[in-house]
Amino acid sequence: MNQKVVLITGCSSGIGLALAARIAKDEKKRFMVYATMRNLTKAEHLVEAAGRTLGRTLEIKQLDVCNEESIKACVDSLPERRVDILISNAGMGLIGPIECQSIDEMKTVMDTNFFGLVRLLKEILPDMKKRKKGHIVVISSVMGIQGILFNDVYAASKFAVEGFCESLAVQALRFSLK
Ligand SMILES: NC(=O)c1ccc[n+]([C@@H]2O[C@H](COP(=O)([O-])OP(=O)(O)OC[C@H]3O[C@@H](n4cnc5c(N)ncnc54)[C@H](OP(=O)(O)O)[C@@H]3O)[C@@H](O)[C@H]2O)c1
Repeated sequence: MNQKVVLITGCSSGIGLALAARIAKDEKKRFMVYATMRNLTKAEHLVEAAGRTLGRTLEIKQLDVCNEESIKACVDSLPERRVDILISNAGMGLIGPIECQSIDEMKTVMDTNFFGLVRLLKEILPDMKKRKKGHIVVISSVMGIQGILFNDVYAASKFAVEGFCESLAVQALRFSLK
């Protein structure tokens, strides 16, 4: 069977968890989903949502987008390191006035939301370019196009994601990536 390999980040909860379970349940079994999370002790809800797909069309793996070794180890563990569809979903918010936030907290948001995506692509994009095949899906935010009160640093991180993707799309298209 010619299954597409899907790698999703941030699958311990929310959108990542829902996407992983939904794609793995595809009736025609067109996808093999590698649902990743930084902390495998949080896998319980995904295991429940995955149901019978676990070990069939869904596997759970460790991946921390803030850690290059963790990303490499995860990708190296995939058959032929192949990722057909990358869904960059992992992210975090930070709400409140900047006077109440430390620079370290702000850096963690940028490191996760923006550099997390950059790290993933540095590991996966070269293989996609060689194969001239691949889909990259980035979960951004409306706050990547419009700032909203007390979401200053979160919005900045998503604006960075938007600019990065807009620029990267030009070369991705040259390699027939979508
Ligand atoms: N929900 C919304 O209304 C909304 C709107 C616009 C955009 N988004 C975006 O959608 C994406 C998913 O958000 P969500 O709403 O589903 O929130 P969520 O339930 O909090 O999920 C965020 C996921 O990212 C993971 N994560 C955080 N830091 C990570 C890291 N360093 N490495 C790997 N995984 C990490 C979290 O893992 P832990 O459990 O370990 O923390 C969690 O699994 C985010 O990029 C968010 O910015 C959400």
